[in-house]
Amino acid sequence: MFGIYLHIPFCEKACNYCDFHFSTSFKVKNQLIDCINKELAIRKNELLGEVRTIYFGGGTPSILSKKELISILNQIKTNYTVVKDVEITFECNPEDLSQNKLKELIEAGVNRLSIGVQSFDDTVLKWMNRAHTSDKAIACIELAQKIGFSNISIDLIYGVPLFLNRNWRTDIEKAIQSNVQHISAYNLTKEKHTSLYNDVSKGKYSMPSQEVCSGKYQQIVESLAKSGFNQYEVSNFSSKAFESKHNSSYWSSIAYLGVGPSAHSYDGKNNRRWNVSNNKKYIEGLVTNGDYFEIETLSEFEIANEIILLGLRSDLGVSMKKIKKLLNDNQFQVFNKQVDLFKKQDLIKQTENKLLVDAKSRILADYIARELFILPE
Ligand SMILES: C[S@@+](CC[C@H](N)C(=O)[O-])C[C@H]1O[C@@H](n2cnc3c(N)ncnc32)[C@H](O)[C@@H]1O
Ligand code: SF4
Repeated sequence: MFGIYLHIPFCEKACNYCDFHFSTSFKVKNQLIDCINKELAIRKNELLGEVRTIYFGGGTPSILSKKELISILNQIKTNYTVVKDVEITFECNPEDLSQNKLKELIEAGVNRLSIGVQSFDDTVLKWMNRAHTSDKAIACIELAQKIGFSNISIDLIYGVPLFLNRNWRTDIEKAIQSNVQHISAYNLTKEKHTSLYNDVSKGKYSMPSQEVCSGKYQQIVESLAKSGFNQYEVSNFSSKAFESKHNSSYWSSIAYLGVGPSAHSYDGKNNRRWNVSNNKKYIEGLVTNGDYFEIETLSEFEIANEIILLGLRSDLGVSMKKIKKLLNDNQFQVFNKQVDLFKKQDLIKQTENKLLVDAKSRILADYIARELFILPE
């Protein structure tokens, strides 16, 4: 079993915080979709087994026309064996979700929407340079529910600069009231080459402190828990039945095929691959049968480090058996000593075979993982 990730690298507008790969020029869109279809065919024998999940991410997948979306899905069905109850997630921006668009998506077989709401506060949305308003976000969620989508996720961002006076509690309440099945809440990060980064560097405003962000995080963890959302990963909340199958497979080291510019792939063992983050170079590589990707083979301790990082972020935890298999005696001893330090501070729990960071401390998962990382000998 494996998942397919498709990267659709176009956006109408650039959000002030985003450094994902995308272009606001649509000139090469047709060619690029053809190349995604070509890549899908070329790589059909790369991973064994059936396709369990398909994930359209971006950029903005909701800029795809019905014809383009169906051409990609048909290409997958022609070249791969897809399970009957495949999860098909589609990331979309609220401004694209008309009644017509939502009907096209449901007819094409999309059964999970991930809507980029980010905030229900128009001042924040404007500052982010988003193209939708809070009313539009609420209306498109209602419309999607009316049309028959029963597995909807929304993305929210917390930790925005304090001058915006954002009322995070109101945002959380509106998210809960919207009756969606899944909520992702991301801490705003200041990425290089974004206008957020430039503005902060120029001293126009500053990012909130770690303490402020931790407070916002605790607020959402507590409020969502009261409303029946389990935090199954640092940034992801839902009931068991609505956890993202696709993202959960990343966290448990299941193989995935990443197609499109900047997409990453993993063979489930020790090979990672990433496609070039440039639309023209990606197209050129596929049209001329040339290079458009790089491959890295991970050593055993690097695989262990990935398992530690991903496992501690989620409620799946880290299997001690797996880590022991990947490390030599000396490395495992060093690892265990570090684990003991975190256990004493009550930041890690250990059951017979599993290491777990519980929900209240999970915001520290990346820090704890880095402290546990095995270094080259
Ligand atoms: C890359 S976008 C793609 C989906 C779609 N275009 C959208 O904007 O919703 C996926 C999610 O990444 C999150 N994201 C992107 N850059 C971020 C940043 N610098 N800090 C926190 N979250 C970020 C946003 O919440 C966004 O919804
Ligand atoms: S957050 Fe989404 S819409 Fe905004 S620039 Fe990034 S990919 Fe595009």
